[in-house]
Amino acid sequence: MPHADTSLVPDSIKSKSEFWTHVHTQLESLTAGERNWVTNCANAASLIYNSLLAFPLYFGSGTDTAVNWCGVYIVADRFPKPRNSTKAPSEHTDRLLLGPFCGKPACQFINVSLNNGRGVCAEAFIQCRPLLVPNVDEYPGHIACDGETKSEIVIPLVLQNGERVGVLDLDCLALSGFDEQDREGLEKIASLIVDSSDW
Ligand code: SME
Repeated sequence: MPHADTSLVPDSIKSKSEFWTHVHTQLESLTAGERNWVTNCANAASLIYNSLLAFPLYFGSGTDTAVNWCGVYIVADRFPKPRNSTKAPSEHTDRLLLGPFCGKPACQFINVSLNNGRGVCAEAFIQCRPLLVPNVDEYPGHIACDGETKSEIVIPLVLQNGERVGVLDLDCLALSGFDEQDREGLEKIASLIVDSSDW
């Protein structure tokens, strides 16, 4: 199957739980044989984003209701060091840097220091728990990368040993774009992203 076809969603899929199981299976095949986290996160972001847009029973591709961003922010010191530099890309371990994503340009980094971290991604990372935000305008500290975003879900990316490596973040143009079923499906996908890659 061509790689691009992995983001097609068969008509037989009628429910969110079937949808997320399908995306999980597709991601298993897309990550097979490769353990580079940049590569696997890039395909994960594209697969999730394009599958959501291809599932008309879900958000559909309506310009006012669709998912408009899907990607990862990763702890700065997990990024590969530039070859000709003795300096790490960022010496900050209290910063998440923008990783692979689909959607419009977004903030380059997110501060996750305990006394300074703010926003949905920072709080999900610091508290190490998923955050579902039905209305971003009512979320104190929300960082608006795209003023059109109305709702958001963030899932922490956590290694088996409990170390946090970043977050998986999705934005939606509709209010209450995500629910508990999405959280459940995305938590399984976040585990697959973490387990399928070297960090
Ligand atoms: N809204 C996020 C920032 C990242 S963007 O949505 C891509 C936050 O509040 O942390």
